[in-house]
Amino acid sequence: MRCELCDDTGWKPVETNGVRTVTRCDCRRDVLGQQRLADANIPKRYQHCTIDNFTVYNESLEKAAAKARAIADAFPVVSKGLFLEGQPGVGKTHLAVAVLRQVIQNTGARGLFYDTRDLLRIIRSTYDPSIRTTELEILRPVMSADLLVLDDLGAEKTSEWVEETMNLIVNTRYNEKRLTMFTSNYPDIPDDTEPNSLIFRIGHRMRSRLHEMCEFEALDGADYRELPVNGGVEELVTLWKMRKKGTLPSPGRSGRQARAQLREPVRDDRADLKWPGGRAGS
Ligand SMILES: Nc1ncnc2c1ncn2[C@@H]1O[C@H](COP(=O)(O)OP(=O)(O)OP(=O)(O)O)[C@@H](O)[C@H]1O
Ligand SMILES: [Mg+2]
Ligand SMILES: [Zn+2]
Repeated sequence: MRCELCDDTGWKPVETNGVRTVTRCDCRRDVLGQQRLADANIPKRYQHCTIDNFTVYNESLEKAAAKARAIADAFPVVSKGLFLEGQPGVGKTHLAVAVLRQVIQNTGARGLFYDTRDLLRIIRSTYDPSIRTTELEILRPVMSADLLVLDDLGAEKTSEWVEETMNLIVNTRYNEKRLTMFTSNYPDIPDDTEPNSLIFRIGHRMRSRLHEMCEFEALDGADYRELPVNGGVEELVTLWKMRKKGTLPSPGRSGRQARAQLREPVRDDRADLKWPGGRAGS
């Protein structure tokens, strides 16, 4: 179908102060947005995520969704990114991807998604100390993306190399004032001797950078992956309360068991995460 605004030239006429000129047409911005979306490395599982289809059923989720919306609406005039923390399945990746998708679609910005462990694995596998070019090929877009989502921060095994690489990425983006969003299972509690605290996982330097770069939002809620297919807000609230009390139901004979088998296996390294006031893991 021909574009009514520009007749497919990509430029539409505009009049400012009586002067007629042309400007980039909306249709091209849409095309660019679609292209950039395809290049953003968003996993299939999360390609449906929007802020509107994120169910909110308590204050912490409302607050996080509101922050996410504010960033998505105001981009690129945003000074701080978001750090979403919380237990498995509360919707951290969903919200982060929702912002990323909206920003790319609306502005055509270069956005990029990476699971932190995947990113480090890729960098490590391409690392060649004699040339370093392949490493840079991966790193350059990560450092220069207009909006970067680093998913599951802290899940990687730490080492000097990991710390150095993560510091390089975060520091470069920090210096260039580029927007970054993070998700993590590790609570931002001040105890650096607690192996399951964020500070223990990523170190003091990185944590202090992150606090300057991001607003921290703790999401408290149910594991959405436990929700029955036709479940709604009521079931979510029930699951959330059970999680808080540490009384998650044992799988019944219903569809729950079958669904549990269909779900991805729970990652071992999260099984004993400690959350203030909450039960461990899911
Ligand atoms: N509040 C919500 N509303 C709608 N869908 C949700 C909500 N929370 C989670 N989901 C869906 O549930 C699934 C799991 O959510 P998600 O992956 O975002 O959780 P997470 O907090 O990132 O968990 P993890 O710590 O395991 O990475 C996704 O398919 C997501 O779209
Ligand atoms: Mg996640
Ligand atoms: Zn057009």
